[in-house]
Amino acid sequence: MGGENRGVDLGTRFVKVAEGKTKVVYDYDADHYLLYFKDTITAGDGARRDVIEGKGVINAQTSAFLFKLLESSGIETHYVGMYDERTMIVRKLRMVPVEVVLRNIATGSIVKRLPIREGERFDPPIIEFFLKDDARHDPLLNYSHMEYLGLFTRREAEQVEEVMRRVNDALYNFLLSKGLILYDFKLEFGRLGDRLVIGDEITLDAMRVRENGTLRILDKDLYRKGADLETVRRSYEEFLRRITS
Ligand code: TYD
Repeated sequence: MGGENRGVDLGTRFVKVAEGKTKVVYDYDADHYLLYFKDTITAGDGARRDVIEGKGVINAQTSAFLFKLLESSGIETHYVGMYDERTMIVRKLRMVPVEVVLRNIATGSIVKRLPIREGERFDPPIIEFFLKDDARHDPLLNYSHMEYLGLFTRREAEQVEEVMRRVNDALYNFLLSKGLILYDFKLEFGRLGDRLVIGDEITLDAMRVRENGTLRILDKDLYRKGADLETVRRSYEEFLRRITS
């Protein structure tokens, strides 16, 4: 059934430790969480919210596939395996509340903030850090801000940037081989011992992907721009089909 109710099932067996706009985290065992993907889609820091039946399954599968792709390129993620079709088993990280964005092509918030034209290509890519704080609309952070707020030291921020570039090399080339252009993506990191590991998700909610040539939008911009929910669902489904075939 809907992504909301299935979570109740897990809730009878596991302790819920966190709930976000699109995912629920349960305590699985000493070293692992369960990450349950809901059917919700949101925009504008949660100001708009809808339910797309089946989206949670598509996003869980998409995320699992892309995490495995990164692992096969030697990039460490929290992914361990699947618990069910919409629930991932992940390693427990101590998440850092920062959204790290890498941009290959200009679109979204950066063209509103800086004198940059939509569609401009960044070479090398631009990397930005935002504080996860809906009430403050995710403010942009510099190294000093992050150091002061106890988020990432400068050294860690540089390590994170290096991981972002490696992820981009892997993802960009993989998606291009599927006829898709990776405009930008967002990752979140967490601490595992003294290492920084990729957590959260990699889905069309957190990256921008356009069809090579036509520049047709496949990602959450469809929803941001007001497309009907069935169009959004079909696009997310098409993306999963294309990357897995
Ligand atoms: P960005 O253009 O900064 O934000 P907006 O969605 O406001 O236009 O987003 C760049 C990419 O990072 C885009 O693919 C969406 C993703 N992202 C998130 O998923 N969550 C966030 O909080 C932010 C800032 C970005």
